Amino acid sequence: MTKLYSIEEYLQEKAPLINRQLEELLPEDNVSYGNLYKAARYSLLAPGKRLRPVLTLATVETLGGDLNAALTPACTLEMVHTYSLIHDDLPCMDDDDLRRGRPTLHKVYPESHAVLTGDFLLTYAFETLVNSPGLNSDQKLRLVRTLALRSGGQGMIGGQVMDLEAEGITIDLATMQETHLRKTAALLTASLEFGGIISNCSTDILESLKLFGRDIGLAFQVIDDVLDVTSDEKTLGKTAQSDLHNEKSTYVSLLGEEETRRCAQDLYHSSLKHLESIPHDTGLLAALAKRIITRIS
Ligand code: IPE
Ligand code: IPE
Ligand code: MG
Ligand code: MG
Ligand code: MG
Repeated sequence: MTKLYSIEEYLQEKAPLINRQLEELLPEDNVSYGNLYKAARYSLLAPGKRLRPVLTLATVETLGGDLNAALTPACTLEMVHTYSLIHDDLPCMDDDDLRRGRPTLHKVYPESHAVLTGDFLLTYAFETLVNSPGLNSDQKLRLVRTLALRSGGQGMIGGQVMDLEAEGITIDLATMQETHLRKTAALLTASLEFGGIISNCSTDILESLKLFGRDIGLAFQVIDDVLDVTSDEKTLGKTAQSDLHNEKSTYVSLLGEEETRRCAQDLYHSSLKHLESIPHDTGLLAALAKRIITRIS
């Protein structure tokens, strides 16, 4: 029987675990290297949703893997994600002032520090990954390869370049989906893959996890585009109307809000199909998918 989870309870249980581990990985008492650790902690420990690490933990839980071994790799996804946000907010990119309820990093430190803090978090994620306890060398190699692929040129960075090159022009829906696939869905897919690799799952399950990750990743960015125009700074904890301001082509600018929300629903239903081929209780992952399309921040 499918276990029914209150996803809010699940997030409330896991977020502190992840926050504690992030704290440990970036200790406050490390006073060397100027303000580097302080700046990294400012962005990393700010109240984000922790969705990427939560997805890894939920996947490991679903597949009956070792949750203790999953915690550190899960945190490396949050490091890469946070680096991507710091750089995304820079004046040369989206030029935003608010993130996770705080002034963006380049507003409290020099811009150079924001660039370098992002660089540090990316580099440190890989260092942390290879030092993760409870994993064998083969698993570490596969995790490193996955993180590099999903956050690199074919993944997040490539998507960010596509996103910036599309400013001020109208792109078609296929190009936009390709952009979303890379800039956002890639790292969310990595979160699922991480869970599969840590749990030593079969190739078939890993393939289903990737397809599920792709769909919820696309849905996540579709909803992000909706919230950019429908919500406010206080609720989002980040600058609202940023896409309008930067003349981005978004799902909403191309299709309108109603049709965009329908797309998110379709992606959600498609994601559930991929869970059907996983021979475990996938109720938790399904609940997280639902949460992604119903979220308000
Ligand atoms: C924001 O990600 C950037 C996108 C990929 C749209 P989140 O909405 O997960 O940001 P945090 O981690 O909660 O701050
Ligand atoms: C950014 O997309 C995705 C990243 C890789 C950081 P957005 O630019 O829409 O993210 P927000 O809205 O600033 O969080
Ligand atoms: Mg952006
Ligand atoms: Mg942005
Ligand atoms: Mg956005």
